[in-house]
Amino acid sequence: MSQHFIAENERSPDHNHILLITTGSVASVKAPLIVAELLKCQNVKVEVVATRPSLAFYKPEDIYALGTRVWTDQDEWTGGYELGDPILHIELRRWADLVLVAPCSANTLSKIAHGACDNLATSLMRALAPTTPTYIFPAMNTLMYEHPLTAEHLRVVREVVKYEVVGPIGKLLACGDIGMGAMTEWKDIVQIAVDRLKLVRKEDGGETG
Ligand SMILES: Cc1cc2nc3c(=O)[nH]c(=O)nc-3n(C[C@H](O)[C@H](O)[C@H](O)COP(=O)(O)O)c2cc1C
Repeated sequence: MSQHFIAENERSPDHNHILLITTGSVASVKAPLIVAELLKCQNVKVEVVATRPSLAFYKPEDIYALGTRVWTDQDEWTGGYELGDPILHIELRRWADLVLVAPCSANTLSKIAHGACDNLATSLMRALAPTTPTYIFPAMNTLMYEHPLTAEHLRVVREVVKYEVVGPIGKLLACGDIGMGAMTEWKDIVQIAVDRLKLVRKEDGGETG
C-alpha cells in the first residue's frame, strides 16, 4: 500500500485509535478476528502494522475487507524522502491511543527489550510516548518461552519499558507441543482493549461509529 498517513488527518474526534501490531507467530492468524471484533465497538478506528514474517499467517486483503489498513516496512521505505514528508512510524505513534502487540514473537520481544528499531513495528514502538498504553501478548514455542533470555526480556519489558505483558497461556501449540507459549485468547485481547478504553459494543444499543 503506498499512501501518506498523517496522524492529525486520520484521527477523529471522540474516537479511540487502536494500533494492532502483528509479528511472526502462527497466532497472527487471529488478526482479522481481532480487528473485526474491535470494529464492533462504537467510535473505534483500527490500523494494523505487520512485520514481514507475520504476513505468512494472514492475508492483508482480509483486513482491507474490514475497512482497515495494513502497514509494512515497504510503506516506511517508499524510495525517496523529501524534507517535510510525513514519517510513517512517527505518524502512527502520534495516531495511536492504544497499542496491542498481538502476537509478540520471541524475536520482537527481544528487540523491544534491547531497544532495537529496525522495522516499522519496532521503530514506532521505540518512538511511542510513555503515556500510550501498550500491551504485549507473547506467543511462542514452549521451549522458546522457557529459554532464560525470554524471562529476562519479559522482565525488562515490564519493569523498564513498562508495557503490560499478558500471557502466554498453556495449550496445544501449532507446532504440536503442549505447554506454555500460546497467545492469550483473541477474545480476551479484545476485552482488554474494551475495558481499558471503556469501549461500548454497537449491539449494546449505541450509535455506530
Ligand atoms: C511457521 C512458523 C511459525 C513460527 N511461529 C513462531 C511463534 O509462534 N513464535 C515465535 O516467537 N516465533 C515463531 N516463528 C519464528 C519467527 O517467525 C521468526 O523468529 C521471525 O524472525 C520473527 O520476526 P518478527 O518478530 O519480525 O515478526 C515461526 C516461524 C515459522 C516459519
